[in-house]
Amino acid sequence: MVPKHIAIIMDGNGRWAKAKGLPRTVGHIKGAKNIETIARAAKKLGVKYLTVYAFSTENWSRPEDEVSKLMELLIEYLNKAYKNAEKNQMRVRVIGQRERLEKRIKDRIEEVEEVTAGYDEIFLQVAFNYGSRDEIVRATRKITQDVKEGKLDSADITEETFGSYLDTKDIPDPDLLIRTSGEERISNYLLWQLAYSEFYFTKTPWPDFSPKELEAAIDEFNNRNRRFGNV
Ligand code: IPE
Ligand code: IPE
Ligand code: MG
Repeated sequence: MVPKHIAIIMDGNGRWAKAKGLPRTVGHIKGAKNIETIARAAKKLGVKYLTVYAFSTENWSRPEDEVSKLMELLIEYLNKAYKNAEKNQMRVRVIGQRERLEKRIKDRIEEVEEVTAGYDEIFLQVAFNYGSRDEIVRATRKITQDVKEGKLDSADITEETFGSYLDTKDIPDPDLLIRTSGEERISNYLLWQLAYSEFYFTKTPWPDFSPKELEAAIDEFNNRNRRFGNV
């Protein structure tokens, strides 16, 4: 069985570059390129949803030149997604907090979301300026506001209602989470949505993570005895 939704923490760009004596930014360039390769492979394998962690709310604390390179790489990625929208048949959405992003980035995101909105062979979510705690706080604020305005009765706040206020509304929870480059933590990623996902950790740094390894992760996912609740 192919997991319907795979979430990835694309980690290890910096270490990949360092091991080769290259600047960290070269690792980010190579890493951004790999999103295209892995999205294509995922689509071919029949994965319906792919959610990749590209920039966390904590990543602002990195050196300024690294942060601005990551912003540029997002724009370049979005430009390509815009140009190849029809060829890719892929719907692209960006999840995370938008307000803090520069206007030209926000505009580009909106354009790409609009131009790809009708495609449904694969759904790609790019988590950018994303932090799960921030997402939960933003959702709670919206819920409180709706209750205050009488649009929502607090008695009707169920898990489902809460989920519909998150950035991932309309997207099923991930079946499988992959984190590359050896760290085994979530780093504020999809805390609500990963409640029952299987986790796959690999030492391979993201720039070297290949379609073959994606298949290996899916094979391992299939070999596990999946348990939901106490079933
Ligand atoms: C992942 O690679 C990309 C981002 C977090 C933006 P890192 O930049 O975290 O690479 P390492 O972990 O330092 O090797
Ligand atoms: C998580 O990686 C965020 C992204 C992959 C974008 P980090 O490298 O930033 O996470 P920590 O700091 O090691 O937890
Ligand atoms: Mg890292």
